[in-house]
Amino acid sequence: MLSIALTKGRLEKATVKLLKECGYGTEALENKGRSLVFQDSVKDIRYFLAKAADCITYVEHGVADAAVTGKDTLIENPGEYYELLDLKIGECRFILGGLPGRNPLARNGLVRIASKYPEVARKYFRNKGMDVEIIRIEGSVELAPLLGLCDGIIDIMETGTTLKENGLVVFDTVEDISARLIVNKASFRLKQDEIMALLEDMKGMVEKRCSEE
Ligand code: PRP
Repeated sequence: MLSIALTKGRLEKATVKLLKECGYGTEALENKGRSLVFQDSVKDIRYFLAKAADCITYVEHGVADAAVTGKDTLIENPGEYYELLDLKIGECRFILGGLPGRNPLARNGLVRIASKYPEVARKYFRNKGMDVEIIRIEGSVELAPLLGLCDGIIDIMETGTTLKENGLVVFDTVEDISARLIVNKASFRLKQDEIMALLEDMKGMVEKRCSEE
């Protein structure tokens, strides 16, 4: 039996679709209601639905053997797990954005950046040799420059709609991101056959999709 934590929210639909295309029995996940634990109807797999950072916590503690979660959350929460596969779903990017004509990169001295991803933001400005003050924001980060809290934001951009509808622009791409399959280190040894089968199924489907593009 494998236990797999899946990230709920944005990634959820694409993850369930990928599993379904791999031939897994995802009916319970597709008709989930408010439940959080689901049994695969074909494979000996139990799924949990959790927030991205919590998926990592469950994998690190070994209560989930594997998880599907975004690279954004993995970068922000480095830990003790193996990252096995880029699933090529949930593709988006980290960007530096802000008000038009106010590029933080053109500023001298300290810049103030709001972000849900303080580690990503700190690393980006450190690599540029710039002084930065990071202000952690939990959501709707686009508000922060509009209200004058900061000089810019480091945030995820998928379609670009949120930035555009709030009159903000992109100044730079920090990094491309997508969903990854991660695995608990002990499970990787102890449940090698099951994990390799999961990996091969997902890898095959990712490659098939890429070749069809
Ligand atoms: C994310 C991100 C942006 C938005 C980008 O927020 O922080 O705000 O999505 O998506 P887009 O480029 O397709 O418009 P999310 O919707 O997860 O909500 P939050 O800000 O409350 O965390």
